[in-house]
Amino acid sequence: MFLVTGATGGLGRRIVRLLREREQPVRAFVRLTARYGELEHRGAEIAIGDLLEPRDIQRACQGVQYVISAHGSNASTRGGAQALDYRANIELIEAAQAVGVQHFVFISVLGADRGYEDAPVFKAKWAVEQYLQASGLNYTILRPSGFASNLLPLAEQFRKTGIYLLIGDPQTRTSIVSTDDLARIAVESVTTEAARNQVLPVGGPEVLQRADIPRIFGRIFNREPMIVNVPLFALDGVRTVLGVVNPDAQKALGTLRVLLSNEFFCSPSEIAALETLFGFKLETLESFLRRYLAT
Ligand SMILES: NC(=O)c1ccc[n+]([C@@H]2O[C@H](COP(=O)([O-])OP(=O)(O)OC[C@H]3O[C@@H](n4cnc5c(N)ncnc54)[C@H](OP(=O)(O)O)[C@@H]3O)[C@@H](O)[C@H]2O)c1
Repeated sequence: MFLVTGATGGLGRRIVRLLREREQPVRAFVRLTARYGELEHRGAEIAIGDLLEPRDIQRACQGVQYVISAHGSNASTRGGAQALDYRANIELIEAAQAVGVQHFVFISVLGADRGYEDAPVFKAKWAVEQYLQASGLNYTILRPSGFASNLLPLAEQFRKTGIYLLIGDPQTRTSIVSTDDLARIAVESVTTEAARNQVLPVGGPEVLQRADIPRIFGRIFNREPMIVNVPLFALDGVRTVLGVVNPDAQKALGTLRVLLSNEFFCSPSEIAALETLFGFKLETLESFLRRYLAT
């Protein structure tokens, strides 16, 4: 039995779908308020709970052999990254130890090891990585770059308006990963011997500049992109104002600022190593988007 947290998220949903396509038993950890009907329909067992409640985590781990931790916080998460990205994962690791889980897959983030002081999510991921590695569990830590599925709503907006809002330097490099490829890597990590006890950066096969994204949209929709480039200091202004009314949201924006002001990409040799390890070719951003965006 697999336990997948974040099962209603962009990545978690794909992990559950893939496991069910492969007829694997899977328990999806979901919140009562989430949209989980599709997962149930596909034959996933549903464990309703809240990851901020250790007892819900312990209950969900009963009878589980594999855990894939794919949940994550956002700006509105109660307790922020500390509660969900850090504490809930520590509880999950301890519950996994208690029931003798065979393999724990943790979705971290590319750059978790860079010591960004102002980014609570990165700090939480790094601390969880350390804890998992010292836990004695078999593990695979995946450090993905940005997900291609995040761009689908932006592409739909672009389809209507031709406008793309780009915050920060358009030349910043990124290697956006196909969320479907990442789901496959997460699932296959538990059976791929060479992935055991490894920390793996996971990106797409191309190193893109952020300005390439609207160009790709333009090709897909056959439309000349109009790029509206907002400088980073505009975001800093918003953060300063937010700090007065909502300090938690200000902290969460620190993670966004780190994401927007730094480069997150995998080198060609890292990608080649990943393709060899898992035995398939990673898909480009354009290919991912074309599959999802009926034109
Ligand atoms: N998106 C990216 O570009 C990116 C890049 C690198 C790494 N990552 C990491 O990859 C993982 C998956 O990201 P994603 O974009 O797929 O996430 P997502 O779409 O934001 O989904 C987050 C998931 O966590 C669940 N969740 C939040 N709070 C919860 C709680 N208290 N109890 C139970 N479940 C809770 C959400 O449930 P609800 O449906 O109920 O809200 C949802 O299923 C995260 O760890 C993230 O940090 C993401």
